[in-house]
Amino acid sequence: MDAMLKEITAQCAQYTAQGHVATYIPELANVDPDKLGIYVLLEDGRSYSAGDHQALFTMQSVVKPLILLLALMDSGIDAVRALVGVEATGKPFDAFNYSDQALTGAHINPMINTGAIALCTLIHGDTYHDRFSRLLELTRKLADNPSMDVDQSVYESEKLTGNKNRALAYMLTAYGMITDPVEEILDCYFRACSIQANCQDLAKIAHIFANHGRHPVTGEQMFPGAYAKYVNATLATCGMYDGSGEFALNVGFPAKSGVGGGIMGVVPHRMGIGVFAPALDKHGNSVAGVRMLAKLSEALDLNIY
Ligand code: DON
Repeated sequence: MDAMLKEITAQCAQYTAQGHVATYIPELANVDPDKLGIYVLLEDGRSYSAGDHQALFTMQSVVKPLILLLALMDSGIDAVRALVGVEATGKPFDAFNYSDQALTGAHINPMINTGAIALCTLIHGDTYHDRFSRLLELTRKLADNPSMDVDQSVYESEKLTGNKNRALAYMLTAYGMITDPVEEILDCYFRACSIQANCQDLAKIAHIFANHGRHPVTGEQMFPGAYAKYVNATLATCGMYDGSGEFALNVGFPAKSGVGGGIMGVVPHRMGIGVFAPALDKHGNSVAGVRMLAKLSEALDLNIY
């Protein structure tokens, strides 16, 4: 398996040149576009890796499944479903072209920015700083990595320039979907996006979603299986944004991308996967990352459809 992953990374290195690193968050423009790594964690705990699998990157939207999970754990399925739906929008992750009708949960989902920002209000905590701390703790626990933390420069960069997210949050306020102070909610969201991870961290988190909330090695039920089902279903339909259909066809398992270049792949009952390659396609998905997952899926027959 190690040899196969090495070959996959070697074959996919050419694709990094076909994408561009995100520049709308200025600090992300400084990332090396040629990095490429993969980490695979099988159901039985065996792990394999290749390339820059230890390189750190910011989770960005890969944190959205964790925001969703904590909102489910704190507020339950009914409250989450009432606030943000589950239907794919087929639009970019930061779209605001909703039309003039009143915005409701039926128009958004937990994997786009509007949905993830709204879900921060369903996480419990006295302050938004406390809510973020609980999210970081959950992330560390699922990744089994207590050293995970925020990349301060990326956080500050996004907070300074994230006016589109501000606009989305004010739109949610205008339609009465959120009532808490916008800047506090956004601070929680920006910090969450700036949590640093490596491929192993993503694979470990994915491994637990793949096993319906149960830690495959220790056997501990870390969260109810129904929540894993909710998260995995939204990853399958909306995790790769307006590239989700193409991804389902070519790769074929639930996954979540982030503009930091990471993708978390959840192969139910089989494995968790983390890939990293920061050059992105027009949807904001890692070009070489998607290619690596497609090759792995083909080699191991992972397409669940
Ligand atoms: O909110 C943003 O724009 C970023 N922090 C996250 C967006 C993102 O990762 C989209 N994913 N591909």
